[in-house]
Amino acid sequence: MSQKHIAIIGAGNLGISIAEGIVDGGLKKSSEVFLTRRHIESISYLKNKGYQTITSNLEAVKQSRIVMLCVQPKQLPKVLEEINPVLTEDHVLVSVITGVMLAEIEKQITVKATVIRAMPNTAIAIGESMTCITSNGNEAEVKEIQALFDALGKTLVIDEKLMQAATVLGASGIAFFMRFLRAATQGGVQMGFHSEEAQLIAVQTAKGAASLILENGNHPEVEIDKVTTPQGCTIEGLNEMEHQGLSSAIIKGLMASYERISNIK
Ligand SMILES: NC(=O)c1ccc[n+]([C@@H]2O[C@H](COP(=O)([O-])OP(=O)(O)OC[C@H]3O[C@@H](n4cnc5c(N)ncnc54)[C@H](OP(=O)(O)O)[C@@H]3O)[C@@H](O)[C@H]2O)c1
Repeated sequence: MSQKHIAIIGAGNLGISIAEGIVDGGLKKSSEVFLTRRHIESISYLKNKGYQTITSNLEAVKQSRIVMLCVQPKQLPKVLEEINPVLTEDHVLVSVITGVMLAEIEKQITVKATVIRAMPNTAIAIGESMTCITSNGNEAEVKEIQALFDALGKTLVIDEKLMQAATVLGASGIAFFMRFLRAATQGGVQMGFHSEEAQLIAVQTAKGAASLILENGNHPEVEIDKVTTPQGCTIEGLNEMEHQGLSSAIIKGLMASYERISNIK
């Protein structure tokens, strides 16, 4: 087993994003990353970039200490059954699979390998993920995996009981903020901009707002106070949005999503 190699089991949307983030971020060479899936022809372009694309999960796990499980939840039992014969206590299994508890994975493997859950989002492809991480102990391995995801955005180690909430806020959150950006763009078009111009203004403004908070750690309301002149246009717009239920709609949407994820099984 190689310390250098990493296996991505299930090279779909997220698996590929993680692989590209790791390689583009300079953490691994593409030749040190095994990518597996059954329909391997669909990732031949990654083979051309030097990745080791193979159909054998067994071979990938044999050659790599860190194994990222990136398949859909229903595909996991078959994958674990397949790789069990070559798993050792030195392996570190990292599952990004939504809703599958650490205990469920630990129950299905036949050795005492370290199991870690990570919940990134699709911005991992550009090194801007928010990744929440949890595990049952194994601090050194958690630090190692956290360092990997740190290079792909920001990370937070959390209790497993908060993993569903992290999925809603951080992973589904990408879709929620996208819908806000689409609405802001539509408003910009109605005020007279072409859609590309409106989108650029909305998106860069959203990035600026988020960056302000990330940089100075202020509460959002402190930054809002700086923009809202008494009797001005900003407070007029903001209050109208609240009369229409903006904050309430967002919180209710998050809670509906949370209830859904909590009841899936
Ligand atoms: N998308 C997100 O924002 C996000 C965020 C956090 C977590 N997640 C979780 O990440 C996981 C993957 O999501 P995704 O969107 O990347 O799904 P996806 O595109 O469907 O990727 C899953 C991949 O697994 C491969 N696969 C299936 N069975 C396999 C097997 N036996 N051996 C090897 N590969 C196999 C599939 O390819 P073949 O059919 O060719 O085998 C497919 O490409 C899910 O569990 C999801 O809950 C997603």
